[in-house]
Amino acid sequence: MCYAIPGKVHSINGNIVIVDYFGQKKRAINELKTLAIGDYVYAQGGYVIQKLETAQAQDILATWQDMFSLLNEVDKEKFSLSQSTVTNDLNLRRILDQALVSNQLKNEDSLYLINLANQADTELFLKTANFLRQKYHQNACCVHGIIEISNYCKRNCYYCGISTHNQNLKRYRMNKEEIILAVYEAIKVYGFKAILLQSGEDVGYSINELADIIEEIKRKYDVLILISFGEIGYEGLKDLFKAGARGLLMRFETSNEKLYSDLHPGYILKNRIAQIKQAYQLGYFIITGGLIGLPGQTKQDIINDILLAKELKADMYSFGPFLPHANTPLGKEPIVKEIDILKTLALIRLLADQEAKILVTTALETLDFKAREKALLAGASSLMINLTPLDYRKFYSIYPNRAHERENLKIQVESVIQLLKSLGRIPIDLGI
Ligand code: 5AD
Repeated sequence: MCYAIPGKVHSINGNIVIVDYFGQKKRAINELKTLAIGDYVYAQGGYVIQKLETAQAQDILATWQDMFSLLNEVDKEKFSLSQSTVTNDLNLRRILDQALVSNQLKNEDSLYLINLANQADTELFLKTANFLRQKYHQNACCVHGIIEISNYCKRNCYYCGISTHNQNLKRYRMNKEEIILAVYEAIKVYGFKAILLQSGEDVGYSINELADIIEEIKRKYDVLILISFGEIGYEGLKDLFKAGARGLLMRFETSNEKLYSDLHPGYILKNRIAQIKQAYQLGYFIITGGLIGLPGQTKQDIINDILLAKELKADMYSFGPFLPHANTPLGKEPIVKEIDILKTLALIRLLADQEAKILVTTALETLDFKAREKALLAGASSLMINLTPLDYRKFYSIYPNRAHERENLKIQVESVIQLLKSLGRIPIDLGI
């Protein structure tokens, strides 16, 4: 099984290559030493990560070719904006017509969409987002793996179950061998091409140790490594980029400065944003976003969050619900409605750059086990599978009852493949 489709190198200009996938041309950065026009490659997150033997690539492509058109048909049925979805709301029609041709909406129009209450109109809005997802991404869905390598964290985030507020949590830190073993299984048994390493802000690992782990993975495997270790500073980002990391997941959590300071005493939003910008400058693929449903957060804040992620050049948007955790100061706050998250994802699809991917977060899946499907039909285009060993996974309790907490890798992979098939999607990453 494979989580990427090989592409054929169409042209090379310095370290920029154009890769052809069934006639679609995508741009990627090449760091392989020997690459020629006509070679077959895997690209992930905008980087060429592996060259394949021609015969092997042609075999894989032949299998996909038939599947590709079959799945496209299934997808087409789901994204078509059919007659049944017309609306009498003239303002909504005007806004959606505009969204189909431009990703610049007036603030009042974004507010109108996010405040929609009528069920049929909301469905039309979500369907329009799915239509745009298909237009820009066809039926591609990227599937990344995540390994939560440590739940130690020195930060005091008011909402987070692995923060210093939670004194009742067993803490764990995976060692290098355990991490490499989890990476090995994901790559060799299940064909993952992109893996995210995540932890709390854990002072127990030095940057050198993290760099050593990343270097070892890159030495052994052709894989895109993404990191999410919190605010490790410019030097840390630089050292881990040098070690081979190419993607950064760092949410700014909220674009509202006051709310940010209230929820993270002693920390300021500006510093976090500065690090995301530095990572972009260093060449990292950027995954960022925020929490929806925080106490005191307004609909305008959510729109500002989306625009901030866009300004930060998010390659992938990560927005999910805030879920109260009993052992934190926000433990008794109410839970946001699922539809509010779906509307946020749809609005992201309308406002984001065409190439941007939108993640279905595990927190959303925790709200509703059908949420993955609903989000993929509301503009989302990307999933993560949890690769953390089961013995540790239950302790990475950023919020309670996380989805997939007890599912082994085989079960998770099978259910993702089955879901994607039913929606006519293919688990691939066509590069940028
Ligand atoms: N609910 C939902 N998401 C949470 N996170 C932390 N705590 C919670 C919670 N209670 C998210 C934060 C962080 C990511 C690792 O987990 O957005 O960036």
